[in-house]
Amino acid sequence: MGEKNRKWWQNAVVYQIYPRSFQDSDGDGCGDIQGIISRLDYLKDLGIDAVWISPVYRSPQDDNGYDISDYQDIDPMFGTLSDMEELIREADRRGIKIIMDLVLNHTSDEHRWFHEAVKGKDNPYHDYYVWRDGEEGTYPNDMKAAFGGPAWEWVPELKQYYFHQFSVKQPDLNWENPKVRREIYDMILWWMKKGVGGFRLDVIDQIAKEPDLGITSNGPRLHEFLRELSRETFQKGDLITVGEAWGATPAIAEKYSCPDGSEFSMVFQFEHMVIDQQEGKEKWDLAPLSFVKLKKCLEKWQTGLYKKGWNSLFWDNHDLPRIVSRWGDDGGYRVRSAKMLAAVLHGMQGTPYIYQGEELGMTNVRFDSIDKYRDIETLNMYRERLEAGYDEKEIMDSVYAKSRDNARTPMQWNSQENAGFTTGTPWIEVNPNYREINAEEEMKNPDSVYQFYRRLIRLRKTYPVFADGRFELLLPDDRRIFAYTRTDCDTEMLVCANFTGEPAACPLAAQWEDAEVLIHNCGGGFGEEMRPYEALMMLRKRR
Ligand code: GLC
Repeated sequence: MGEKNRKWWQNAVVYQIYPRSFQDSDGDGCGDIQGIISRLDYLKDLGIDAVWISPVYRSPQDDNGYDISDYQDIDPMFGTLSDMEELIREADRRGIKIIMDLVLNHTSDEHRWFHEAVKGKDNPYHDYYVWRDGEEGTYPNDMKAAFGGPAWEWVPELKQYYFHQFSVKQPDLNWENPKVRREIYDMILWWMKKGVGGFRLDVIDQIAKEPDLGITSNGPRLHEFLRELSRETFQKGDLITVGEAWGATPAIAEKYSCPDGSEFSMVFQFEHMVIDQQEGKEKWDLAPLSFVKLKKCLEKWQTGLYKKGWNSLFWDNHDLPRIVSRWGDDGGYRVRSAKMLAAVLHGMQGTPYIYQGEELGMTNVRFDSIDKYRDIETLNMYRERLEAGYDEKEIMDSVYAKSRDNARTPMQWNSQENAGFTTGTPWIEVNPNYREINAEEEMKNPDSVYQFYRRLIRLRKTYPVFADGRFELLLPDDRRIFAYTRTDCDTEMLVCANFTGEPAACPLAAQWEDAEVLIHNCGGGFGEEMRPYEALMMLRKRR
């Protein structure tokens, strides 16, 4: 690609903030925008370029803000519109762009449009949503909502069902209606005028649903809608845009992230994130990680989009468990395995995303009672599975492994009460390990996970091979070693990691004897046997 043709976001590292859990400034136990502003210097020090903020719009918070009742206002729990403007300004002063989270598949049932829509079939807003005539108790079909129960909700006054892919309080918007699309574009342009640097598009592959055919993602008109959306909005600025697309394949992602900019900059795809669940089942149905499959999956995406599209790189977000607990070791090797996972991810081609606390090696949480959990998805699953006769212990094991609340416990800033997150009572309890794992400690310690992430970010900015190099997987069938090279016209980089807690033989050291070590998560050299969770990056000129 070459440095000249590169887009700014191809060199960028993005940090995701879950505002509710990041930093509280007023003692109400919930994070807020002023809290984020007070931590911008921390983010600047880490070296990131942009911050994606999960939704802060006005919302009844049925799904923690992913149920929006006003796209052009801020929820009082997070602050005001002028706080948001201040955040954009203050971030900009530090060279950081703000990425807003756009939830365009559905609104809240408390959105003005929905209030109007239920008033009558001839109300101009009725067709903003997806309705089917019917009889009470007989659903239009057997489609299920992602958070449990049927995807249809009866409205007696209208004698109609509305369609919702998520909770009953998240009615799906009807993208077939051009008026809906126009309203959305105007709203996006309004945010662009305020100076936002980009957008993350929530469950965007589900907007072109065809409920009568049972189609949720990748509907027939999806890319037509997306090209129109992009043309009417994003293409009028120099934005980073990233769509959430659980149903993407590399071929589909080529369309989404086509270098001509006709859709988005990139998508979040999740193929590598469902490898530790039973095939065809739900995420709660746990299966051991197939490491070889993981490598081949990432290879497929790395080579599939090379020069044809662009990858996003991530292990964590607000919906996923903490990676160090998931595929590393959150006990004795926590620090080393967190760094190993970081190195493996950040060496690949794409734009890396760091989820708040990942840079500290924050871990999953194990609350002793379901009453301490807050997530709608977790609570619904717990209830449904209990009713279906599952064993409580088995359910809790799924919660410990996969609950979204693992990622949503408050950010661990220091060893003071509530980890420095709030002076009040946090909306969800702090992970008790905050006394050992916290930002203040890690910023002082040169060997911390935080410092490792900081260095990885700087390496990406120093060596063009991170952005441009061709990916090649080495030792594809090795059951312990994750190794790959990245090659551009004059440099070759090796990323080599032991993905396990056991020593592992590695035949690569001899071939890379004369290369420069860029970063290494253990002391000592690169030998024929790699230590548990050892990882390093090496660089040499091409011969
Ligand atoms: C996305 C969000 C998730 C939310 C869902 C419905 O998957 O990341 O948090 O619950 O969409 O909006």
